Amino acid sequence: MKLSVIGAGYLGAVHAAAMASLGFDVVAVDVDADRIGRLRDGAAPFYEPGFDALLADVMATGRLTWSLDYADLADADVHFLCVGTPQRRGSHAADLRYVWDAVEALIPHLRPDAVLAGKSTVPVGTAAAIADRIARTWQGDSDHIPVVVWNPEFLREGFAVEDTLRPDRIVVGVPDGPAGERAAAVMREVYATQVAASIPLLVTDRPTAELVKVAANAFLATKISFINAMAEVCEATGADVVTLADAIGYDARIGRKFLGAGVGFGGGCLPKDIRAFSARAGELGVDQALTFLREVDDINSRRRDRAVETARDLVGGSFRGRRVCVLGAAFKPNSDDVRDSPALDIAARIHNEGGQVVVHDPKALANAEARFPSLRYEPDLRAALGGADVVLLLTEWQEYRDLDPVAVAEWVAGPRLLDGRNVLDGAAWRAAGWSFRGMGREHG
Ligand code: UDX
Repeated sequence: MKLSVIGAGYLGAVHAAAMASLGFDVVAVDVDADRIGRLRDGAAPFYEPGFDALLADVMATGRLTWSLDYADLADADVHFLCVGTPQRRGSHAADLRYVWDAVEALIPHLRPDAVLAGKSTVPVGTAAAIADRIARTWQGDSDHIPVVVWNPEFLREGFAVEDTLRPDRIVVGVPDGPAGERAAAVMREVYATQVAASIPLLVTDRPTAELVKVAANAFLATKISFINAMAEVCEATGADVVTLADAIGYDARIGRKFLGAGVGFGGGCLPKDIRAFSARAGELGVDQALTFLREVDDINSRRRDRAVETARDLVGGSFRGRRVCVLGAAFKPNSDDVRDSPALDIAARIHNEGGQVVVHDPKALANAEARFPSLRYEPDLRAALGGADVVLLLTEWQEYRDLDPVAVAEWVAGPRLLDGRNVLDGAAWRAAGWSFRGMGREHG
């Protein structure tokens, strides 16, 4: 079976390499010549643990081709649509321009028996709209027409390779009737390795498949904002949100995962997905069902305000003339992605308040600099910490967790630290002479 992948970003590039590693012939297209050029040379255009090695392995097999030309996709049996769906400018809705550009470019090359499998996160109803578009432009026999299915991706950055090869579950939304049954059989063949490994494969209708993805992300965002709301209450009462999360997390119905209180969620998915979901609910006349997601978003952004306030407090009420070391620029560790990064947002706000901000990150400095050129970036951790009046740990990279409070106290100008991710041992830092603050915890 031959597969194609459209869009060679975090999702598409990893999916293409993963499918080739399973033995499929894969051709991947993207409109970005620089990106395709780098991938052809075996160089990952982003940092993703395990991806370089996977890419090297599959490029050596000759089963994976990178292309700029949609004509190269023509003989594929299944086309995976993996383009981005960012937030539309001036609105909360999803911008589907890359989806439609890809569909229009693909249509002339589709075989009648092809399956178009959408993986991008889209507003519910998009799969049906694409199927309509294909039907309206189809020149051939209307009984032999490509089938559109939705096969959402749940990968986490930092674990993209693992999540692609061994996902928790696979969801395939197909249309009713024999065409849908045929497409489901094709998708079962595509994911035969995962099915053999007892990974659940759910075949459903298309709207359900589209909704599964946004519902999952809405739930995860809500879980994080729930614990961050508890952090606000803890701050008002002297309680400790980390112990609270541990205690409620022992309840198997709740679970401890995604109860990490701190500066909140960011990235290219959760923030824009909950907004697009609300916007879509409004279009469908069920906006009340999702008004709580606005609150989820608000709680999340209040955490950023709180981090700025706490850091300002630590330096005596004003950042003017103060050197502020920000540890972390990526939206989460093991990624170089700075999209909607809480760390960079907080750094930029402190810069705007007159702080002399120096940002360190093990992998994301180039992307951060492209996004906020006016901040100062320092690739050497010790140099970044040197002379700081206050240190903010905002992305929990392992090397920050491993910092020695006694040694670091010697490098800074003033031993003051905000642990924006609640990952350090506050007692050890206090014992080394630090004014130490967490998020939602006074004594942690
Ligand atoms: C997310 C979903 O997890 C994934 O299934 C989906 O396919 C895409 O969106 P990702 O954006 O890679 O993946 O990151 P994730 O690990 O979910 O973290 C999102 C944000 O939440 C990060 O900024 C992270 O720091 C933050 N977070 C996560 C918390 O603040 N607290 C937590 O307890 C967990």
